[in-house]
Amino acid sequence: MSTSVIILAAGKGTRMRSGLPKVLQPLAGRPLLGHVIETAKKLQADNIITIYGHGGNLVQKEFAHEQVQWVKQAEQLGTGHAVKVTLPVLPKDGQALILSGDVPCISQQTLQKLLDAARNTGIALVTLTVADATGYGRIVRDNGKIQAIVEHKDASEEQRKIKEFNTGIYCVSNAKLHEWLPKLSNDNAQGEYYLTDIVAMAIADGLEVASVEPERAFEVEGVNDRIQLAALEREFQTHQAKLLMQQGVHLIDPSRFDLRGQLTVGQDVRIDINVIIEGDCAFGDNVEIGAGCVIKNTTIAAGTKVQPYSVFDSAIVGENTQIGPFSRLRPGAKLADEVHIGNFVEVKNSSIGLGSKANHFTYLGDAEVGAGSNIGAGTITCNYDGANKFKTIIGDAAFIGSNSSLVAPVTIGNGATVGAGSTITRDVADNCLAVERSKQFVKEDYPRPQKIKK
Ligand code: UD1
Ligand code: CA
Repeated sequence: MSTSVIILAAGKGTRMRSGLPKVLQPLAGRPLLGHVIETAKKLQADNIITIYGHGGNLVQKEFAHEQVQWVKQAEQLGTGHAVKVTLPVLPKDGQALILSGDVPCISQQTLQKLLDAARNTGIALVTLTVADATGYGRIVRDNGKIQAIVEHKDASEEQRKIKEFNTGIYCVSNAKLHEWLPKLSNDNAQGEYYLTDIVAMAIADGLEVASVEPERAFEVEGVNDRIQLAALEREFQTHQAKLLMQQGVHLIDPSRFDLRGQLTVGQDVRIDINVIIEGDCAFGDNVEIGAGCVIKNTTIAAGTKVQPYSVFDSAIVGENTQIGPFSRLRPGAKLADEVHIGNFVEVKNSSIGLGSKANHFTYLGDAEVGAGSNIGAGTITCNYDGANKFKTIIGDAAFIGSNSSLVAPVTIGNGATVGAGSTITRDVADNCLAVERSKQFVKEDYPRPQKIKK
C-alpha cells in the first residue's frame, strides 16, 4: 500500500517571538521540520507533502534539496483546512500519515505502529494519557472505543476531566480523506475547520478508530515557545545520550553532552563534560575527548586522545594521535597515525604524516608534512599573499626551528633543518640546514642604563 506523509507547517509560531518561522527553529542543530522530514524519509514514504504558509519562501529554501511537495495554505483556517488543501496532490488510494512540523521527535517505530493500526481500520491516531491534558483535544471513548475528539475549548466540564488526549498525529486512508475533508464545517468555538472532526465522521461511517501510544512521551511534545523548545532539546539530548551509553560510550555526565547530528562509535569511547558533537562524526575504539571540545564532521581513529577545549571541523584524525589542549583542526586537516598537535596549533587543509609533531603555537595552512618531522613552536606557513593561497611542502624527518616563517610556495626537503627564527622564502634541499637571520651582535662589558637615585 502506498504511503503519503502530510506535514502541517503553515502556523506562524507567534509565541516564539522570532523572525524565523517556527518550523525552522533548531532542535539539536536541525530545524524542527527537518527532523520530521528525516523521519518521513526513513519510513520510505512515496511522497512527502508539506503545507506551508507563514515564512513560506524561507521554509522552502531551507529544504530545497529535499524531495518534498509544497502546498500553500494562504490563510490558516484550521488543521482540517490545511489537510484539505493537499487533496489535489494527494493520491486517491493508499494511506497518509499526518504529522506536525512542530512535533519533531516522533519516532519511526511509533509511526510504523500507527501505519499498521490504520491498515486494518482506515483511521488511527496517536494518543497519550497524562495527569492533566488541559489545552489538548480530548479522546472521548465509549466502552473503550473511540467516539470523537473534542477540542478543549469545545469540551464540557465532564469531558475536560479526560486524561487521554489527541497528539495531532494520524494515519488515515487517502480515499477517506478525499471523502471526508470537503464535508468539514467550522461551526465550533474557534470558527476553524477541525481535522479532528474526521473521527466522528469515521464513526458515522461505521469504522472503528484505532489508537496507538508513543514509545516515549517526549515524541509527541510540540514546540510553541522557547521554553518548550529548550525543554524538548534536553529531553532529546538525554535520549541520545542514553542510546550512546547503551552502545558502551562512557559519558562522564550525560546531562552535559550535546549531539547535534550523528555519532558512530567503537568500544570504550570516553567523553568528558561539555562536549558538543555536530554533523557526522565517528570515533574509533578507546578515543578520549576532553572537556569542552566542539567536534564537527570529523572522523577520529582508535586510541586518539583529545585534550580539553579543542575545536575540530571537517578533519580526519588517525590512530593514537595526541591533540590539544586548545587545538584547532579546520576543514581539510588530515592527521596520520601517532601525530601530536599541541596547544594553540591551527591546522587547515593540510596533511600531517605519521608521527610528526607540532606541539606549540603553530599555523599549518595548505601544507603537506611528511612522516617523523618536528615543527617547532611558533612556526607559521605563510600561505596567503592577500589574493592567492600557496602550498608548503615539508618532507620526512625535517626539523623546523621555532619561530620560523615558511613563505609559500616553498618546499623543505627530507631530513632538512630550518634554524630558529628564519623566514624561508626559497626551497631547502634534502638534508640541508637553512638559517635566515642576522649575525648576533655582541658588545662586551655593556654598561646597562641605571636608574638615578634621588
Ligand atoms: C491540534 C488538535 C488537538 C490536539 C493538538 C495537539 C485540531 C482541531 N486540534 O490542536 O486535538 O490535541 O493539535 O497538539 O486539529 N496548522 C496549519 N494550518 C492551520 C492550522 C494549523 O498548518 O490552518 C498547523 C500548525 O502550524 C501546527 C499544527 O497544524 O503545526 C497544529 O495546529 P495547532 O493550531 O497547534 O493545533 P491545536 O489547536 O493545538
Ligand atoms: Ca628573521
